Amino acid sequence: MKNRRLVSIDLGSAYTKVAIRRDWNGASDLLRDLPLAGDEVDFCVPSVVARTDGPGGARWTIGAAAAALTPGDGVHIFRYWKARLFATDSPVTRDQMGQGTESEDWDRVATEFFRGLRESLQGSRYGDDIASSAVRVCVPRMEMGDADGRIAGILDAAGWRPARGRVTVYEPESNACGMFTRGRNATWYPPAASFAPREGRSLHLMKMLEPEGFLQALRRMAGSFGVLVIDIGGFTTDFGYVQFDTSFSSNDWHRPTIVQQSYELGIRELDQAIYDSVDEDAQRAIRALSPGEWDALKVDLYRGAPVTLQGADGRLLRIGAGEDAGRTTAALRKFAERVIAVRDTFLRDHVRGPINAQTLTGGGSMIAPLHRAVVQALATDEEARVYDLLDENEPRQTLAARGGRVREEEVEARARRNQELVRGGSAIGGSSVFFE
Ligand SMILES: Nc1ncnc2c1ncn2[C@@H]1O[C@H](COP(=O)(O)OP(=O)(O)OP(=O)(O)O)[C@@H](O)[C@H]1O
Ligand SMILES: [Mg+2]
Repeated sequence: MKNRRLVSIDLGSAYTKVAIRRDWNGASDLLRDLPLAGDEVDFCVPSVVARTDGPGGARWTIGAAAAALTPGDGVHIFRYWKARLFATDSPVTRDQMGQGTESEDWDRVATEFFRGLRESLQGSRYGDDIASSAVRVCVPRMEMGDADGRIAGILDAAGWRPARGRVTVYEPESNACGMFTRGRNATWYPPAASFAPREGRSLHLMKMLEPEGFLQALRRMAGSFGVLVIDIGGFTTDFGYVQFDTSFSSNDWHRPTIVQQSYELGIRELDQAIYDSVDEDAQRAIRALSPGEWDALKVDLYRGAPVTLQGADGRLLRIGAGEDAGRTTAALRKFAERVIAVRDTFLRDHVRGPINAQTLTGGGSMIAPLHRAVVQALATDEEARVYDLLDENEPRQTLAARGGRVREEEVEARARRNQELVRGGSAIGGSSVFFE
């Protein structure tokens, strides 16, 4: 095991989340209340970079401050640049919703983002944590060159200390790990077996697994227990399938095997579909919005509420009502179907074991109609129980299953943790001792 203290950065194409593990057996926790986060979720930093060209040269801004800027007048805004950094076969030809196609030095944009993130965190109440921790980054699991080397170079240039061992983990595995540990970490020194060299510090997997919740059946099973974690993000939908071997139950559990894949299917395509479906005036008005304004509007649009935009001549434009609403519903339904189709592809190409539990995460799962449609489709398989972290009854039911009196603080804490896991599971899992 290599890194005692570790910060993990889940570089999301839309929002970046950061978690920390302060010791071998300490919990993995999200960094909250971040100065760079937007107003809505205090652990989500918009993955937006802005360059303002002025007489004194270029000035770079990142996070919520960059997301609040509107493009034009020497202000260049880069969103979804992660897609440029990692996309291979289909280099993104068009930026988000009609924005420019200028080619940029994407490594430079990434470096400015990581530098800005480090500087902001160092100046925050997490300053000491950052100074004393190595860093690991979550990247998509898809065909790409040497991600580890590339990210290590970017981290170096941005002044971060890369982790020893793995500098990157894949998003599906870190997210799945976040789910089945809920951020628990436990290590131990296994007793020496006769004639074998003594092992060093090792994972204590049994202590890291959640005793109830979606692994509740695990302890009762003999043989294989499989969990499928689906993450609908801005750029990719990620699948992680974790297979536990439950054929014995000593302290010395086998590491589960994880198969995983990211597919280029993300909410930005849904945004694009909405943009394409409105008329030119509305498109112009959308282009004039700051990234932060659009993200706030789309929350309403996706739950079926109309929004008002300011047109070029000051006229107010209403979108999302009437026929628009029908188109949004159709786009969401189509997107849900594609998620299920990609799930079938993943199962066909990668999964050989049983699926006993499945769970849905990512910002995409916060979109209620999409969440409903996907969960409904998943629930057709009776053997594979859908475990819904956003179900408001989950905390109380799960805690009650433990027996004894359920305290309100515990219910609240679990509900909060569930919300953190849905959005920040990859960051939480990325700092797990599982990857040490
Ligand atoms: N309540 C909501 N309503 C509508 N959209 C939402 C809501 N919450 C999150 N989103 C959107 O979901 C998308 C995905 O968010 P998420 O944080 O999972 O993306 P990401 O991790 O940055 O992407 P990726 O993992 O693909 O790189 C974003 O476009 C975000 O704006
Ligand atoms: Mg993500």
